[in-house]
Amino acid sequence: MSLVLKNATLITAADIFRADILIEGEQIRAIGQGLNASQALDCQGKMITPGGVDAHTHFDLPMPGTVSSDDHYTGHKAAAFGGVTTVIDFVPHPGADELSTKERGGLRVGVEAWRAKADPALGGKACIDFGFHMNITHFDEAVAQEIADLPALGITSLKVFTAYNGRLRLGDGEIFQVMRIAKEHGILTLLHAENGDVIELLIAEARRAGHCSAEWHARTRPAWGAVEATLRGAALAAQAGAPLYIVHTNAAGEVDQIQYAREHGLPVMGETCPQYLFFTEDHLRRPDGAKWVCAPPMRAAADNARLWQGLQEGTLQTIATDHCPFFFNGAQPILYEGQEIAIPGKELGREDFTKIPNGLPGVGDRLPVLWTYGVGAGRLSPQQFVALNSANPAKIFGLYPQKGALLPGSDADLVVWDPERRVTYGTAYAQHRTDYNLYEGWELVGMPEKVMLRGQWIVEDGRWLGRAGMGRFLKRRSGLVL
Ligand code: URP
Ligand code: ZN
Ligand code: ZN
Repeated sequence: MSLVLKNATLITAADIFRADILIEGEQIRAIGQGLNASQALDCQGKMITPGGVDAHTHFDLPMPGTVSSDDHYTGHKAAAFGGVTTVIDFVPHPGADELSTKERGGLRVGVEAWRAKADPALGGKACIDFGFHMNITHFDEAVAQEIADLPALGITSLKVFTAYNGRLRLGDGEIFQVMRIAKEHGILTLLHAENGDVIELLIAEARRAGHCSAEWHARTRPAWGAVEATLRGAALAAQAGAPLYIVHTNAAGEVDQIQYAREHGLPVMGETCPQYLFFTEDHLRRPDGAKWVCAPPMRAAADNARLWQGLQEGTLQTIATDHCPFFFNGAQPILYEGQEIAIPGKELGREDFTKIPNGLPGVGDRLPVLWTYGVGAGRLSPQQFVALNSANPAKIFGLYPQKGALLPGSDADLVVWDPERRVTYGTAYAQHRTDYNLYEGWELVGMPEKVMLRGQWIVEDGRWLGRAGMGRFLKRRSGLVL
């Protein structure tokens, strides 16, 4: 079967032009004028972009007392409705800290367990294509050896943390060693940059003083800790001779530090997320402030502005979501595909901000919201929109040009947009399996109308045509430094 999409306006990371796209099987075969195929779809008046690549998700992630409320089916479906055809999820480092590495079973066991949840080839329920990053949250000689195995498992990026003392954090010397080993094996190091010691002290003080509301989540995780840890990460990477990617960049000073590193020729890159572009610490002061609790937290309006500038000038290369949703009220079921479901959520922290599960929904919101409030608002060009949301993450994470591109030979992953469509956005529109949406009531102009994964329509005019089992595990190559 071949299909030609005719007369659309194509948007790539480099260009905007009118052309037809010829699709044969799972791939784009040709792009040009006057193309023909056994089937044709007139896309006059529509725009076509590559499918979105969200390089930062947490599906089915166990948290104290609960689990993130989208799994590798519901989260993939929500992503697809928002124009996303590829996600990269984080594999937790297996085992409790008191176990030895041998008892924990090692990184391979963690990858296999995560893959079994997602990979249809192993009984998992993915419905879009997906890859994995590996979290490294303890370090010893055995872990040092196991990192070398990751590329053979299709994993060419790992994440380390300078926060979450006693749980996820590595010491600076350990991070330095991980970076060196990662570099040797073509693996990119990702850094969660906050100051774990300061956070630990401030949280203890806040609790002693009886502060329990959501705003204290932000007040105990200061921006300076993120700024300092970003520079520390860049300096460690410089000494290790390794590239570095700062995840969920949130503070103005972090952008400054990434810029400083890059001006000094260091291969340091940065990702931000829509929540850090649109919201501030003030949102945590609302009665429903727990909805905005994620780590790192929201900052101030000046931080929003510097992040936009960082995207515009190229200091930041990607926008991801850090999708890690929880119910606002997990005691109240919602209807999901006709079934009632309730999963413990933000109410766990009603009396104690440290018990609010950290994380937000967003995987399906990113492209529609950024089309209107990024491109429509004149903050990003259409080409920057594609670069930041599709092409750059695909390049950095070793998936380009299979993903993130409209090119002959690329997977036929694409979004047909209706640029005129107006919606009042929110839970009624987004498909996340949770009971709230951060963009409730926002007016959007221009929406994904049809979404294609490897030559098959998975979303068509608001209808779900995808299914569990359609997604494929992506064994990634080493990526590029942008
Ligand atoms: O609050 C968040 N972002 N939860 C997910 C974990 C992380 O650090 O990305
Ligand atoms: Zn993180
Ligand atoms: Zn995350």
